[in-house]
Amino acid sequence: MKLNDELTNAIASVTEAAAIAAMPWVGKQNKNAADAAAVAAMRERLNNLNINGEIVIGEGEIDEAPMLYIGEQVGNGKGEKIEIAVDPIDGTRMVATGENNSLAILAAGYQGSFLQAPDMYMEKLVVGKQAAGIINLDRSLEYNLDAIAQTLRKPLHQLSLAILDKPRHHEIINNLRLKGINVITLADGDVLASLYATMPNNSIDVMYGIGGAPEGVISAAIAKALGGDMQARLITRDIAKGNNAENRQMAINEITRCHKMGTDVNIKLPLETLVRNQDVMFAATAITPGDFLSGVCEQSDYIQTHSLIINGSTHSLRYIQNYHLR
Ligand code: FBP
Repeated sequence: MKLNDELTNAIASVTEAAAIAAMPWVGKQNKNAADAAAVAAMRERLNNLNINGEIVIGEGEIDEAPMLYIGEQVGNGKGEKIEIAVDPIDGTRMVATGENNSLAILAAGYQGSFLQAPDMYMEKLVVGKQAAGIINLDRSLEYNLDAIAQTLRKPLHQLSLAILDKPRHHEIINNLRLKGINVITLADGDVLASLYATMPNNSIDVMYGIGGAPEGVISAAIAKALGGDMQARLITRDIAKGNNAENRQMAINEITRCHKMGTDVNIKLPLETLVRNQDVMFAATAITPGDFLSGVCEQSDYIQTHSLIINGSTHSLRYIQNYHLR
């Protein structure tokens, strides 16, 4: 079933609400307050929509209020059965510090569209349309980069790769730079990196690295809708954040939760497993200004938001500049 414009516009208004709610927290050094405001606004807007929605992947589990938790029912229950993957703020740190490139984001599709997984870490490899079909996460990163460079008919030293600047990636970043690859590091925000890799006229050839699983499923929706490609692997906390007793205990819980949800850690998840059909959408509204979108702008009589909507059903993307009159 196609996602029509009315439904995509309605769902896209959810990220606008989250961005507007987060805006007063820009530069206030309070990540949690910004996140709580965005979550509350998202929840309220979602619950006003004519959908029978469920959060299938989000930040937090049922006992971690105020998160939009996995399994939470949203919408007024009257419309279509819709699955939603949310990240009320991708870049809470940037909101807290007033830096660029923080986004309120979500992906949505009909029931059965998305991988169901806990809120944990995920290794991700994302490419645009020109390199779709040739990546294989069971092979080394070097193998994949060679294959991508060959397909794009460029030498390795002209290949560009975006990756989060996290300690777990530092060795990889150094090795890639030694090979001459143009490595662009981002402090946070790997959904933005996936957009760089998959948007038409993509500025970056590849996004790689370990980040959040919700952000991963949302990136997969972008790749699916735009004809790009992605492969992923769920990664336990001890591998992503350090092998200590606390993280090892969390890893045991993550594995159990994965099994309950019908998936597993450390196995290759191709795009068709991450997102099962083409009729999915992605919406992002900028909180602080960024590379694709201007940030929320408050005037005396209106608030202006800037959003990007990608619709897999119509294989299209739209920029929306909205004036919310007071
Ligand atoms: P949040 O703003 O939701 O915390 O996410 C920012 C982010 O950089 C994501 O884009 C990325 O997937 C994740 O954090 C990586 O997690 P960590 O900072 O724990 O390594």
